[in-house]
Amino acid sequence: MNVTDEELGCFIRTLRDSGGYDLSDYSDKSLKRRLQKVLDDSRLPFGTFIGNIKQDRLFAEKVLKDITVNTTELFRDPQMWQTLRHRILPRFKANKTINIWHAGCSTGQEVYSMIILLNEMGLLDKAKIVATDINNDVLDVARKGQYKYRFNISYLDNFDQVMKHNPFNYDEVYDVSYEKYFVIDKAKDILSIKKEYTEIPFFRKHDLVKDGTFVYAKFDIVFCRNVIIYFNNKLQNNVFNLFHQNLYPKGCLILGAHEAILGPWAPRFEKNGSFYTKK
Ligand SMILES: C[S@@+](CC[C@H](N)C(=O)[O-])C[C@H]1O[C@@H](n2cnc3c(N)ncnc32)[C@H](O)[C@@H]1O
Repeated sequence: MNVTDEELGCFIRTLRDSGGYDLSDYSDKSLKRRLQKVLDDSRLPFGTFIGNIKQDRLFAEKVLKDITVNTTELFRDPQMWQTLRHRILPRFKANKTINIWHAGCSTGQEVYSMIILLNEMGLLDKAKIVATDINNDVLDVARKGQYKYRFNISYLDNFDQVMKHNPFNYDEVYDVSYEKYFVIDKAKDILSIKKEYTEIPFFRKHDLVKDGTFVYAKFDIVFCRNVIIYFNNKLQNNVFNLFHQNLYPKGCLILGAHEAILGPWAPRFEKNGSFYTKK
């Protein structure tokens, strides 16, 4: 049976009132699909499921974590990383510091991809990196920087594309080994980010719906990729407002491949593919 509009409304109200998470401005379509899956997996009747959210804070937390999508990968969308490397980051070379915020960082692969890129460009010493997510479990994984090797092996191709080649100049080839950044234990099926790099980012919980500005400094670069795709237009606009406020002039917001700034915030940014420069 499919989740009805009434059930979705009841779920959203209960999770907001009992769990403190407000999903009312998430996109109905994807929320319904996720709720259906979580309900099916729980094997509970809808009434019991809602009762458990009301009575059990930990159950409510778990439901929130199961409802949100955490898919991520190293150097996801390699072309974006190539453009970042050769067209965007050179703008920040003269900066004394480069402040970076990864909003909706999930298990951290995006954060470590950026750290590797910055290191190869000689910019890592200037970088101050904050990475946030609504889900404490993914943040714990991100802090450790330990992933399933077999699951991540195909993403090493992304690493090669971004770290070893320059699509804007085919004569340029870089020699960067995996061992420089990863410890790979095939027997245990673990790919670990080297400790010297896991110590660099500051990971903390932050809810884009309600937490607003959380640091005093502004940012040169904000990543928010594959997060707003789950939000409706109203929430997307609130989040664009938040990012606009928190970026320096000429700072850059990076969205996912299937996301865009449309509507009232569009004229406040200059668009170049997935990159939005604050005017
Ligand atoms: C699909 S992952 C994207 C990960 C990474 N940015 C990437 O593109 O590979 C979306 C992440 O957004 C987080 N998220 C969802 N709603 C959020 C909110 N209101 N505030 C902060 N993070 C949120 C989820 O927990 C999830 O980890």
